[in-house]
Amino acid sequence: MSTPIRLQKYIAQCGIASRRKAEEFIGAGRIAIDGVIVREMGTSVIPGKNKITFDGKLIKLEEQLVYYLLNKPKGYVTTLSDPQGRPIVTSLIKEDAGRLFPVGRLDLDTEGALILTNDGKLAQKIQHPSHGIDKTYEALVKGCPKKDKIELLERGIYLEGKMTSPAVVSVVTKAGTNCLMQITIHEGRKRQVKKMFGFIGHPVLHLKRTAYGKLSLGRLALGDYRQLNPSELNKIFL
Ligand code: URA
Repeated sequence: MSTPIRLQKYIAQCGIASRRKAEEFIGAGRIAIDGVIVREMGTSVIPGKNKITFDGKLIKLEEQLVYYLLNKPKGYVTTLSDPQGRPIVTSLIKEDAGRLFPVGRLDLDTEGALILTNDGKLAQKIQHPSHGIDKTYEALVKGCPKKDKIELLERGIYLEGKMTSPAVVSVVTKAGTNCLMQITIHEGRKRQVKKMFGFIGHPVLHLKRTAYGKLSLGRLALGDYRQLNPSELNKIFL
């Protein structure tokens, strides 16, 4: 539930009028709260609970659309609540940004890029398979996959009754007896990257998403986030 705000401020935030003009409207009896005309200045209303009308027409706060890119740490769930009481990713956003939800999911032990927004349309667009948004991951895997296995992953493998779409896979670097791999896929099946490397006999030891399309995490530290501007949002679809 939102916190109470003064009626004239509410009217101004709805984009109807300045606060001064709003006071005139209140004085003229043109504003009602839950069907009752109010003429007193300074009456408080609770956005989302009280119904405010102007000349009988409902007025609502313009919701500011916000977009954050978070570097998700391990141990956070990407659901909006958790029956087991584990911390949820949205709790990492310290500003009062209203109701946010994550775009897509990352496993509890996966780190990296996660977009949080209140823009349902954009979230749907990013996740809809028809847009085929690339998601890039860095996966530390056990051992080092040979060329033939890498090519197999790139062509597609039969996973739970369905072929995976073509992927781009490469070795980033060797790490002792293991290898850091980069993989780009545009599907978003549950635990897909782990299952793909598991299938070729190189289980994932650590997983991090590094980019959505051409929007990459960059230098964002683990647990940190930043707001995205429109040109950065466009990069998702490149
Ligand atoms: N693939 C996985 O296996 N896990 C994730 O969290 C994301 C993609």
